[in-house]
Amino acid sequence: MSLTFCNVHLTGQPQRVVYVSGALMKDLKLSGKKSVRLRLGGELFPATLKPIKKTGNHLYLTSGVHKKMKIPNAGGIHLRSQDGEVQIGPLIGILSDGPITSATNPFGSRTGFIKQLLRYGSKKSYIFAFTPKNIHWENETVHGYFLNEAGRFIRKTVPLPDVVYNRLPSRRAETTTPINQLRERFIRRKIPFFNWSFFNKADIYRLLDRDPVASRHVPESIMNPTPEQIKELLHSHSLIYYKPNNGSLGHGIYRLSYIAKSGYYARYRKGSKNALLRFSSFGSLMRTLQARHGSALRGYVAQQGIRLIEIDGCPIDFRFHMHKNGKNQWVVVGIGAKKSGKGSVTTHLKNGGSLLTPEQALSRAFGARGEEVLRHAKSAAISLAEAIESQQQHLIGELGFDIGIDKEEKIWMFEANAKPGRSIFKHPSLRSEGKASVEHILEHCLYLSKFRRREGS
Ligand SMILES: Nc1ncnc2c1ncn2[C@@H]1O[C@H](COP(=O)(O)OP(=O)(O)O)[C@@H](O)[C@H]1O
Ligand SMILES: [Mg+2]
Repeated sequence: MSLTFCNVHLTGQPQRVVYVSGALMKDLKLSGKKSVRLRLGGELFPATLKPIKKTGNHLYLTSGVHKKMKIPNAGGIHLRSQDGEVQIGPLIGILSDGPITSATNPFGSRTGFIKQLLRYGSKKSYIFAFTPKNIHWENETVHGYFLNEAGRFIRKTVPLPDVVYNRLPSRRAETTTPINQLRERFIRRKIPFFNWSFFNKADIYRLLDRDPVASRHVPESIMNPTPEQIKELLHSHSLIYYKPNNGSLGHGIYRLSYIAKSGYYARYRKGSKNALLRFSSFGSLMRTLQARHGSALRGYVAQQGIRLIEIDGCPIDFRFHMHKNGKNQWVVVGIGAKKSGKGSVTTHLKNGGSLLTPEQALSRAFGARGEEVLRHAKSAAISLAEAIESQQQHLIGELGFDIGIDKEEKIWMFEANAKPGRSIFKHPSLRSEGKASVEHILEHCLYLSKFRRREGS
């Protein structure tokens, strides 16, 4: 197998000929050959091979070749040659969708992120975004969204991609038959697809339970607990979080506490305000929760509450944005420290929270020990990512952890997000991490599509 980078030129001649410069002939081990099989994504195409005198790595594709193969554009691109086949690419597909499918705004609020991926990615790959509706399984093509020079979307039809980065936005849509079928179809064609789907909290807690290192960082959790179990957990920790298994953005979360001789307290978000209720008995607390949620409580998890470190009397926790790199290793790419709003149950920015750098937050909480704590937290996050990955049958290339640290410097993981949001990267000090995050996604796409040299090959 050989990998190289070259300049692809598209010409107007109608015949099916590929012209290859001398240096490239050698790199691709094509010297002496009269024909070659070219590949773009799922499409294989035989063509006549002709060497030309020109310095550097150049590939000229006549229109009889590039139109048939659906080569999206000229420019710098990787070539991978193996067993007489030359693959041009990679062809990377970003799968997403909008709130309602619209031609002008197909990806809704994700458009900015998707354009950023396409802008960086098009320097080293053929990269496009697409929605489930844009795939034509009958002829194995995708009518995708590429980015033109002016930064606008331009539609092109290409073969099925070499790798898919999944950013489908809807948790509900992802469990439907059409989306399950779509994923199975990619897998059947051996097209790497990451990440598989949203996680739910209980699955992650359960799976980490089996890992002796990672489980130390997971608070004690009970899925769909009985009232007796909730009471027991509350009495043993005096503070618990009671939260929806499939929740997000802090919706439906309760912070329940018990103070002997004083009673039971429930803190939660009510509209745009924070509410705090006191109950004299556990029974009356449960009745209120039942009245508010009814059978939806069956989808709740009760979890040991962690007393987070605080700044100015407000708890802080952290978002660790994790990626797999071009060598298939986990790295912590960006960390945002989230300070909760006054009286808020969670640290979400939209509930009045604010964002700091981890250095700012940890030096205020731990002084000179801050750096050491950050190192521990990073290594815990890597163990957690490795543990989750090793227990999953599908590919994971990116994770967003909600991580808490207590006053004893213990590291706790509250949630693992398979499609982490990108709001931390809006912080002026985290912009370069945002860029690094995009680059890691692209590097990992190169790895998964085999356009990166792998260890031992
Ligand atoms: N067990 C816990 N102990 C302390 N704080 C918690 C706990 N669980 C959640 N939190 C707080 O609530 C926030 C939201 O919880 P999380 O599990 O991430 O739910 P969501 O899906 O709504 O984001 C966390 O970022 C953290 O600030
Ligand atoms: Mg969260």
